[in-house]
Amino acid sequence: MRSIEPKILYFGTPVAIVSTLNEDGSTNLSPISSFWTLGWTMTLGVLKDAKMAENLERHGECVVNLPSPVMWEVVEKLAPLTGKDPVPEEKTKQFRTEKDKFAAAGLTRVGSEVVRPVRVRECPIQMEAKVISMHELGGQKIAVLGGGLAAVVEVLKVHADEEFIVDGTDHLAPDKWSPLVYNFRHYYSLADKELGKTFRA
Ligand SMILES: Cc1cc2nc3c(=O)[nH]c(=O)nc-3n(C[C@H](O)[C@H](O)[C@H](O)COP(=O)(O)O)c2cc1C
Repeated sequence: MRSIEPKILYFGTPVAIVSTLNEDGSTNLSPISSFWTLGWTMTLGVLKDAKMAENLERHGECVVNLPSPVMWEVVEKLAPLTGKDPVPEEKTKQFRTEKDKFAAAGLTRVGSEVVRPVRVRECPIQMEAKVISMHELGGQKIAVLGGGLAAVVEVLKVHADEEFIVDGTDHLAPDKWSPLVYNFRHYYSLADKELGKTFRA
């Protein structure tokens, strides 16, 4: 063992594409991987310089769309884009402004049922949610990136592709669903061999 200073600590988390509402009523899309859920309460890690942060503070609704592993190249099309105009100073070398991220990534809008930002049809799981609270994330390494926020949201509605639902139930089938995983800035799918299940499964 030795102590190291990796630039990032992204040990492998699912990717989501977050729909938020722009000031003109259109929907912005932002890929994220820093999010987790307890019950139906979800925390999103949002960099302050993202359009998503600005949108969530103005209009506290979003859709958390989960892409499947085959969609990694679609996510990668969104990766160099920001809804911010102009592009924030620290991002100018790698990012460009894009108003219509659906068109840029070849994605399709589908209206949401209880929130204003629209869903991404191609994502097999889509969760409509409202913001409960926003918190400042401290820490030096994130300050270098312009700072971050934890957006705590409550999921209001879960839409799932029939393919991933256990017949006749409300359960998602873990042997059918597999997230797109972001592992140190590389895209992975889960290994398809189940190791076991917890006592409550
Ligand atoms: C796979 C992936 C995961 C990302 N994870 C996050 C994240 O968890 N939080 C975040 O704020 N930005 C994350 N980003 C960077 C944002 O997508 C990026 O800042 C983008 O410009 C946001 O778009 P927006 O400015 O239009 O909101 C991620 C990017 C990719 C490609």
